[in-house]
Amino acid sequence: MSRVALTGGSGLIGTRLRQALTRRGDRVVSFVRDPARAGPGDRFWDPASGHVDALDVEGLDAIVHLAGAPIASGRWTAARKRTILESRLRSTRLLCDALATAHEPPSVLISASAIGYYGNRGEAWIDEESEPGEGFLAEVCVAWEEATQVARAAGIRVGLARIGVVLAPEGGALARMLPVFRLGLGGRLGNGRQYLSWIGIDDAVAALEHALDCEALSGPFNLVGPNPVTNAEFTRTLSRVLSRPAVLPAPSLALRLAVGEMAQALLLDGARIAPHRLQSTGFRFRHPDLEGALRSLLA
Ligand SMILES: NC(=O)c1ccc[n+]([C@@H]2O[C@H](COP(=O)([O-])OP(=O)(O)OC[C@H]3O[C@@H](n4cnc5c(N)ncnc54)[C@H](OP(=O)(O)O)[C@@H]3O)[C@@H](O)[C@H]2O)c1
Repeated sequence: MSRVALTGGSGLIGTRLRQALTRRGDRVVSFVRDPARAGPGDRFWDPASGHVDALDVEGLDAIVHLAGAPIASGRWTAARKRTILESRLRSTRLLCDALATAHEPPSVLISASAIGYYGNRGEAWIDEESEPGEGFLAEVCVAWEEATQVARAAGIRVGLARIGVVLAPEGGALARMLPVFRLGLGGRLGNGRQYLSWIGIDDAVAALEHALDCEALSGPFNLVGPNPVTNAEFTRTLSRVLSRPAVLPAPSLALRLAVGEMAQALLLDGARIAPHRLQSTGFRFRHPDLEGALRSLLA
C-alpha cells in the first residue's frame, strides 16, 4: 500500500485515478482548494495565495499533480490566458518548493503537462525527443514543465505526463462532441487533416499508475494512445459507433469566428504523437484503436 496524494483530484482524470488507486489498495489523499469539499485525510492548499502546509507533503510516497484552470472553457481572452498559465505555474512551484524542503519527501512526482507542448505539427510523427512547438499552449507547457525542476533537483523522480486528448463519456472533448454527433450534426473540422492524438480514459489512468510504479520512467512521456487519427477519421469513426451520419463539416473560418484563437489551437491544429516512453517501459494499451476504445467507452 502506498500513500498517494492528488492535486486537481476532483477533475476528469483525478476522479477516475482516485478510484483506480483506491481499488488497488493505495491510500489516496487530495489537496483541495475548497475546505468544504475536503474528505477525511484530505489536505487544504490554496495555490492562488501561495498556501500549503509544509507538513502535508511529509510522509507521502507519491504525488500526482493535475491541478490547473480548464483550458477549453471560454474564449482565450488575455485574462483567461493568464489564469490558464498562472494556475499551473503557481501550483507547480508551490508544490515543488514544499517537496524540495520536506524531511521525508515522496519518491515520485508525476506532473501533468499536455501535448500542446508540440504545437501544430502536420503529419510527421512526434515523440518525446521532438522540440517544443509554437503558440500559447506550447509556451504554457514549457513553463509548466520547467516549474518542476526544483523537485527534480531535490532528488525526486519527476515524470512529466504530456497528456493527449483524453476520451471519456463524462467530460472533456468527447462529452462535448457527443450531443452534436448524436443529433447527426457532427462533421469534420476545417479540412479534417489535422491529427488528433487521443487516449481513452481507462488507458490514461492505467498509464499514470504505470508512471507511478515504473522506476525507469522519468522526464517527459507522451500520455497518448499508439494510433492517432486525423480529425476526418475521428469524425467518421465516432459517427459509425453512434450509428449516425456525419455530414456537416465546420469550416475553419466559422470556428475561428466562434471560438477565436482557442479554435485554432484545440480544434484546427494537430500533431501525430507516439507514446514511445510508455511503450519502451513496458506499458500495454487496453484499447489501442479508436473504434474499440469508443465502443468500450460508450457501451
Ligand atoms: N483531459 C484532457 O484531455 C487533458 C489533455 C491535456 C492535458 N490535460 C491536463 O491534465 C490535467 C488534468 O486534466 P483534467 O481533464 O482532469 O482537468 P479538469 O477536469 O479541468 O480538472 C482540473 C482540476 O484542477 C483544479 N483547478 C481548477 N481550476 C484551478 C485553478 N484556477 N487553480 C488550481 N487548480 C485548479 C480543480 O481541482 P480542485 O478543485 O480539486 O482543486 C480541477 O478539478 C489538467 O492540468 C489539464 O490541463 C488534460
